[in-house]
Amino acid sequence: MTDDLVFNSLLIGVFASALLTVLVLLFVNAPYGRHQSSGWGPTIPVRLGWVLMESPASLVFLYCYFSGARAFELAPMILLVLWQLHYLHRSFIYPFQIKVKPGARTTVLVIALGALYCGINGYLNGTYITHYGTHLNRDWLSDPRFVIGVGLFGFGYYLNKKSDHMLQALRQQRPGEYQIPYGFGFRWVSMPNYLGEIITWSGFALASWSLAGLSFVVFTMANLVPRALANHRWYRETFTDYPKDRRAVIPYIL
Ligand SMILES: NC(=O)c1ccc[n+]([C@@H]2O[C@H](COP(=O)([O-])OP(=O)(O)OC[C@H]3O[C@@H](n4cnc5c(N)ncnc54)[C@H](OP(=O)(O)O)[C@@H]3O)[C@@H](O)[C@H]2O)c1
Repeated sequence: MTDDLVFNSLLIGVFASALLTVLVLLFVNAPYGRHQSSGWGPTIPVRLGWVLMESPASLVFLYCYFSGARAFELAPMILLVLWQLHYLHRSFIYPFQIKVKPGARTTVLVIALGALYCGINGYLNGTYITHYGTHLNRDWLSDPRFVIGVGLFGFGYYLNKKSDHMLQALRQQRPGEYQIPYGFGFRWVSMPNYLGEIITWSGFALASWSLAGLSFVVFTMANLVPRALANHRWYRETFTDYPKDRRAVIPYIL
């Protein structure tokens, strides 16, 4: 197979699996976190699971990025920094920030599928930026798509990280328990961390103006929107005093 055929086949594969993912996740909750359940096969410690699942996105991206011809041009380098800002944190810092119960475990199946997707995603985006993305030159730095995309990435990153941080602060207050989060993005939606993640990668897709970036946004939404709806339902069923005007993931809409 030629490199182009591999790239295009995987790209089409990601769009197709996003469709499959949304259909499955509308009926089945991925077995981790508040929806952890037995009967899904072997499990491993939660922190190890996060590192194994997320690190391929960082490492495969790095390898593919530096295999391309334009690795040391400015616009690709900015995209590299954005990507790694998120993924170095998510792979190697976030797993050690979360407060987990001693002995807490997560499902190997979820980790294996997540790691497979993260590796393919790292390959598609890392390869695109320094190999196929010939428009990512000096002029691109002043293109509104790049400027707005980087701004959106920054906004989404802040929303995602601050929301995750607030949840961990709740965990620290009452270890092992779930509480109703209040304030910041939680004022409008149950899952502002997911909304932040979707905005982050929409910004990246705009800044890179690529189908690889778009495939990531589509896959992220296929994964996180059904999960947000399930978590929102769970909050409403669990807490009788849950704020009635709060939506799941998109303020005022969904
Ligand atoms: N790009 C993607 O496709 C993708 C997919 C999945 C996740 N992510 C990102 O990964 C991060 C974590 O995802 P997640 O699904 O684990 O998010 P989550 O369900 O919001 O959980 C985040 C953390 O906060 C704890 N927590 C959640 N709600 C709480 C509450 N009400 N009170 C106290 N503690 C609470 C959770 O504990 P428990 O684990 O015990 O529930 C977990 O440690 C998010 O930033 C998300 O955007 C991205």
